[in-house]
This record gives sequence, C-alpha cells and structure tokens, in this order.
Amino acid sequence: MKLKIAVLPGDGIGPEIVAQALEVTKAVCEKFGHELVYEEGLVGASAIDAVGDPYPQKTHELCMASDAVLFGAIGSLKYDNDPSAKVRPEQGLLTMRKQLGLYANIRPVTTFPSLIHKSPLRPDLIENADFICIRELTGGIYFGRPQGRSEDGQVAYDTCVYSREEIERIVRLAFDYAVKRKKKLTIVDKANVLATSRLWRQVSQEIEKEYPEVETEYMFVDNAAMQIVQWPKRFDVMVTENMFGDILTDEASVITGSLGMLPSASIGIHTSVFEPIHGSYPQAAGKNIANPLATILSAALMFEYAFGLMDEGKLIREAVNESLAQKVVTEDIAEDGKSYKTSEVG
Ligand code: IPM
Ligand code: MG
Repeated sequence: MKLKIAVLPGDGIGPEIVAQALEVTKAVCEKFGHELVYEEGLVGASAIDAVGDPYPQKTHELCMASDAVLFGAIGSLKYDNDPSAKVRPEQGLLTMRKQLGLYANIRPVTTFPSLIHKSPLRPDLIENADFICIRELTGGIYFGRPQGRSEDGQVAYDTCVYSREEIERIVRLAFDYAVKRKKKLTIVDKANVLATSRLWRQVSQEIEKEYPEVETEYMFVDNAAMQIVQWPKRFDVMVTENMFGDILTDEASVITGSLGMLPSASIGIHTSVFEPIHGSYPQAAGKNIANPLATILSAALMFEYAFGLMDEGKLIREAVNESLAQKVVTEDIAEDGKSYKTSEVG
C-alpha cells in the first residue's frame, strides 16, 4: 500500500518526538512492504517565525493532499508569556482543525502494566482501566464568536456556541464507537447551568432511542472529573464538548502514569491528524529527554484509522509494551535513575 503522509513537527519537543514516530513508521512500512511518501510542513510558533502565519496555506495544501497527518505539538513560552501577542501559535492548531473539519478527537485511555505504580492513583483502581474519550473539536468556546475585550480592555468575553448539527454528528459517532465496544456511553455536559449543554442533552436523548443496545448515561462534568480518578473502570466510551474534553483528558492521563503516553486521532471531513495529547513542553526542547511514546502510539492509530492497517498498529503497540517491560524509557517514567534518551527509546 502507498502511504502519503504530511509530517508537521511544530514547536518545542515536537520535532524530536515526531522524528522518532517517523522512524517507527518507516520501519513498519519496510517490514510490511508499504511505500511511504512523506513531506514536512510548517506549523505553530516555528511557522510564525518563518513565514508569519501559524498555519500557512502551503501546509494546509500539503495536509489536504495527504492521506494522514502526523503532528507533534504547538506552543512556545515566548507566546505563553505574552498575552498581548496578536498572532498565536495555538491559532495554527485551531485553524488546522477547523479547515480540515476534524470534529472528533478520539483519546483512548489505557493502562500499561509496567506503569501502574507510576500513577498517583491506587493500582487496584486503575488496573485494566480502558475507555475512550471522544472530544468535540471544532466547536464550543474555542471557536464561538464574539470573543475579545471591551474597548477599555477591562472586560473580556468568550462565547460558547453549539448547533444541533454539530452535536448530532459527534454524539452519533460516539454511539457507533460504543456499539463496537462494551456498549456503554457516558455523555458529559453541564446541563444544569449551560444552554449549550441543555441542547447537547436534548439532542443526545433523541439519538439515544436509535441505539437501544447501548446503556446511556448523562453526567455533569464536575462529577465526571471526580469519577475519572475515583472509579475509572466504570467508563467505556465518553463523549463531551470541546473544552470539557480538553480538561478531562489531561486529567485522565494520570491513569496511564504519564501525560507522555496518551495518543490521539482527530477525524472528520478531510485528512485525519494523529497527535499526542500533551503539549510542546518547551522546557525540554532540544534536550533529547521528551517521551516519544504518545507520538509513536499516535502513529499506531494512524496505521489503524487512516489506512485500516490493524496488524501494523498492533505491532507498534506491542513494541511499546516491550520497551516499557524492558524499562527502555525516558526519564518521566524511569525508575532507579536509569533512563534513556528520546532517540534511544525511539
Ligand atoms: C490539546 C491542547 C490544545 C487544545 C492546545 C495546545 C490549543 O491542549 O490538544 O489538548 O486545547 O486543544
Ligand atoms: Mg489539552
């Protein structure tokens, strides 16, 4: 099979972790006899520095012409510490999600036997926890308008907007995932306070009728935040709006043992994007110490979701498990002071 991939390393540790995921991709293609064609594109702060735009048209065209996008991370301290910056690296990521129509972000939360004790949570609570969080990715408060400041700069506002259509497509997708898994869906909202959440609940209750085989529950986001760490094994598929999903999935990463372990797939209308859920970790940039496993596991998702190549994805996951078992890991998950570099783990 011919695999045409756009590679967007981005900022901070992005280039280092993507380089390793690319090596893994190449190795798997070689082993299974696939032809890999890839091209790199600019995105984020590095794209602002180079061409003044965090998601240049050229990068968009590259993504549109590819079968999948392997993405690193976006963000830089220079912009984090300058709230007045007009052009921000994160706009690149948001514009990419919007323009590629990536309305669903799939974040699988699983545990790794050798990392159970790395979690601050009790082993018996998290052992064999296995759920997926489906985060709506192109709506809500991230994109709602108006957004801005009053003229005197003393008042700021964001707007949360959801349409029936946006809710329907993501909730339907979540039900379809639940049907293929343990047939349990948790729909997370804040319907006791927010109008958008009440529309989510109304639309979800309508769709629920089409899936009688799925056990559906509704949960307020504050309660979900508590239950994710209290009783993670109760979840199978969870679906929620953009910002709740952003927050809950960082929280859920403590089940895995490290934020450096969680991959994601963003799917929708055009080319799918595969990226770790963690950020650009600028403090570690260039030091060859960042954990490349979330990106390598994202490459596994890429083989499965973008190309339907299940054996290839499985092999990558097995290799990750084997490397964890042999303790060939970066310092964030190392024990007894023995750790390996990003490139060695790759
Ligand atoms: C994520 C990240 C992004 C988000 C940031 C970098 C804009 O936190 O993918 O979870 O909030 O979506
Ligand atoms: Mg996030």
